[in-house]
Amino acid sequence: MSWFFKRKPDPSKSYVNQRRHILGKNSNFYVQEAYKTLRTNVRFGMSGEGCKRIAITSGLAGEGKSITILNLAISFAETGKKVLLIDADLRRPTMARLLIEKASPGLSNVLAGLCTAEDAIRKNIYPNLDVIFSGEIPPNPSELLGGSRMQKLMDIMSQKYDYIMIDMPPVAIVADVCVMADMLDGVLFLVRTDRTEKEAVSRGLKQLEIAGVKLLGFVLNGGSKERGGYYGKKYRYRHKYKYGYYRYTYENHQRRKQEQSLNEIEQPELRIKDKEVK
Ligand SMILES: Nc1ncnc2c1ncn2[C@@H]1O[C@H](COP(=O)(O)OP(=O)(O)OP(=O)(O)O)[C@@H](O)[C@H]1O
Ligand SMILES: [Mg+2]
Repeated sequence: MSWFFKRKPDPSKSYVNQRRHILGKNSNFYVQEAYKTLRTNVRFGMSGEGCKRIAITSGLAGEGKSITILNLAISFAETGKKVLLIDADLRRPTMARLLIEKASPGLSNVLAGLCTAEDAIRKNIYPNLDVIFSGEIPPNPSELLGGSRMQKLMDIMSQKYDYIMIDMPPVAIVADVCVMADMLDGVLFLVRTDRTEKEAVSRGLKQLEIAGVKLLGFVLNGGSKERGGYYGKKYRYRHKYKYGYYRYTYENHQRRKQEQSLNEIEQPELRIKDKEVK
């Protein structure tokens, strides 16, 4: 009778459900705008020529790092930039399942010397966007990510791409992003509304600071449906005016102003804020 005790799968965790959040033509207008804002802020937050190597982390698990870095990568690729997305969360990788691809051969295979980078790159998953998935889960992720093979991979890929976007595990739990400090131009720290704990942010920021990782800024992810938030789709229209391809109302205008702050990246002076967090 073991079936009797079988837990029902949580529909919010199904990959079909998660794929709804991948940026596309049918995405919510506000989501599209938020990613454009994020893209612009990342672009202007980084100076200098050449490939930009950007990782994403957060305090704890399940805050939206993977979906955010994927969407940011898609957003940059849409502008014609050549983008490589690397799933460097070698502990709980999700990118391959999210994109309905095989995880291997992937990063862990390259880092273990079992295949070449060219074997692991999946070309044009989206136009201008190539992906290296995680590969098999290895027993020693930190050693692999901090090793000379990873450094070499980053150097070679930097010659070929405009942006390298890297999905990482939560820094307050494992310090994988810290061992890559010298290989990165900056790290985005994701904070999820109503979920992220202050203490985890504080701990994570301390880890990054000790490792000398350059903090690009914070990405605020989420918003409740009640607030018509980031993924909320239901809006009430009181006074409707047709305006372009979405309906413009004063209520929506007010809401949009609020929502523009969602999922935006703030500039590095936000480092000062980490002092407030403590
Ligand atoms: N703003 C959001 N609104 C609703 N659901 C979201 C939002 N952001 C992320 N999610 C959902 O939260 C879940 C976790 O997202 P994701 O896998 O991107 O998090 P993560 O930080 O990468 O997790 P992990 O630390 O385990 O790698 C997914 O089901 C995703 O679809
Ligand atoms: Mg993830």
